[in-house]
Amino acid sequence: MRTMLPALAGRMLGMEKTMIRRINDLADASCINLGLGELKFPTPKAILDHVRENLDAWRLGYSPNEGFPELRRLIAEQSGESVSPEQVCVTVGAEEALLDVLMVLVGAGDEVLIPDPGFPAYPSLVRLAGGEPKTYPLLPKDNFGLRAETVMGLVSDKTRAIIINSPNNPTGAVHSTKELEILARSVQAFPLTMISDEVYKDIVFGEPAAALATLTDRCVTVNSLSKSHSMAGWRIGWCVAPPDIAKAVRTFHQLAVMCVPSLSQYAAIHALSGFADQELRANLDELRKRRDFAMSCVDRHTVFPYVAPAGTFYLFVDISRRLAKFTNSLDAALKLLAAEKVVTIPGSAFGRVGEGYLRLSFAPAPDVLEEGIRRIGRFFH
Ligand SMILES: Cc1ncc(COP(=O)(O)O)c(C=O)c1O
Repeated sequence: MRTMLPALAGRMLGMEKTMIRRINDLADASCINLGLGELKFPTPKAILDHVRENLDAWRLGYSPNEGFPELRRLIAEQSGESVSPEQVCVTVGAEEALLDVLMVLVGAGDEVLIPDPGFPAYPSLVRLAGGEPKTYPLLPKDNFGLRAETVMGLVSDKTRAIIINSPNNPTGAVHSTKELEILARSVQAFPLTMISDEVYKDIVFGEPAAALATLTDRCVTVNSLSKSHSMAGWRIGWCVAPPDIAKAVRTFHQLAVMCVPSLSQYAAIHALSGFADQELRANLDELRKRRDFAMSCVDRHTVFPYVAPAGTFYLFVDISRRLAKFTNSLDAALKLLAAEKVVTIPGSAFGRVGEGYLRLSFAPAPDVLEEGIRRIGRFFH
């Protein structure tokens, strides 16, 4: 008897894992991986010790849907004086927070402005929510910084939300506070919400990135411990939203995941209480060294220009002068992987403006970084 394959829902048409995941799936353990968006530091020892010491005592049942009150209190406290815990929902990483917020804000026919280059999940998340992603360019001539005028030129009465990501993945740019202020002021005339994805906020090497919620009250802030605390696998994220949006997010979140694993929430309470801060400062110092080292390796082994990243752990390298032999940056990244066993992410994974670039992560140890970049130089010679 032939079994009929069930048809998938229309919303999954054209949906795939992001190119970052697909390229990483092609790599094996012998590859040098400059592709993944994850820090290589272990979970801070202070947090692991706390979990070990308390494991037997904790009750690991369901938590309140929106997260333990103590965790929401800490997040609210660190988000600003006037923020209440009712505005906080603890989520499965920033990724779930982004999906929740888009699901409650966006419907059919609505547009969401997203950065190009930008985090590859944005367009798919907007489409899953039923909306249409529309990109705003972050241009090399502006060092990939956001220009309020460019974004405003794309706002229409269909625009429901604008996603801002500063520091930006993949360029490492920290957007100017002045431009964000102009943008926040200009959108007041429109019924739209700013979604500020601040997962790299604590990984900055100079001036801090502006917290968008201090510039406008029509803002949902999304954050997590994945990058700031090297705790990606604990899947702790959250959003802080105006009360009406927060209420809707809590409902959607309950239906989708019920609650975030209690064990991770206990660890997060300890993390946000500051017990790991010394280790985090040491990690940031080490990352700064790795950033400088990665830039010196690119200078020594390749002919490629780049803009020094002000934040994140990515170097966005302009390979356009060596692209003639390849169809595009994806073709170059795949051939680089096959020939030299080095994983990088083609700039096109992040949008049209990213074409002609490769994203290199400088999270790996210096010897790995040097060998990876040396091989990149040899490949593109
Ligand atoms: C810009 C950006 N937002 C969100 C996420 C998702 O983070 P999380 O691990 O907290 O879900 C990532 C992960 O790479 C990211 O780069």
